[in-house]
Amino acid sequence: MQSRRCSGEAPAWTALLPRSQPAWLLPRRALPGERLARTPSSATTCSQFVRVLGVFAVFMLLGTNALAQGPTGVGRTPTEEEIRAWDISISPTGEELPPGQGTSEEGRLVYRRQCASCHGADASGGSGPRLVKRDVQPDHPWDFGRILPIRAPYATVVWDYINRGMPLNREGTLTADQVYALTAYLLFINDVIAEETVLDAESLPAIEMPNRDAFARVPDWQPGKPRLAGYPH
Ligand code: HEC
Repeated sequence: MQSRRCSGEAPAWTALLPRSQPAWLLPRRALPGERLARTPSSATTCSQFVRVLGVFAVFMLLGTNALAQGPTGVGRTPTEEEIRAWDISISPTGEELPPGQGTSEEGRLVYRRQCASCHGADASGGSGPRLVKRDVQPDHPWDFGRILPIRAPYATVVWDYINRGMPLNREGTLTADQVYALTAYLLFINDVIAEETVLDAESLPAIEMPNRDAFARVPDWQPGKPRLAGYPH
């Protein structure tokens, strides 16, 4: 269909076009014996306008694509340093543990300054969850309560949790020595290790946690498969 914009005199913007134009901007010539429908001047203007518009659209598309992958767009490759800073997970074997060490006595001091305000002076009774086991005769480690330094299957989990998540709102501010000391303190007040035990990258993974074998085996996941039968959470 002929648009109204394409009829009549050449509009002012055509003055910006170069005098000698590239082949893709030139109007189509009449074939032998053919009569073009419009006068040369309006036909020229119309086809030039449509072609310029088309080329502009292609450039816009290419442009936005390139921007999306460029330095100001969405996403970029992280640097080695950034990956190292994020990569703080500690596995049960503890091979990722950093150098450092700490005892329960050192941990008690750090706890008093940085943890007691939320978890209570005696590791219970604060606004945060209690961190010391209940005074009960247990049939099972779970009977002591949902206490991480008892229920965790590996002592490295306790280290990792404190290191990545505590103190709440000031995460990442503890030194490796402080995390070893706090882990020693929490494991000591829960009777998992002796008071004088020195925790470091070697002794920590060697601790046998009381709840080590009491976790249900996670079933192999398949699409649409329901949760573990009888799982309460
Ligand atoms: C500002 C309050 C606050 C401070 C300070 C704080 N915690 Fe916590 N902590 C919490 C809260 C709240 C949770 C529960 C988080 C959750 O379940 O998601 C928690 C959870 C924990 C747990 C896991 C408890 C469990 O059994 O699941 C441990 C271990 C712990 N904190 C250790 C520490 C240590 C060690 C410090 C000091 C370095 C500390 N926290 C400082 C508020 C705090």
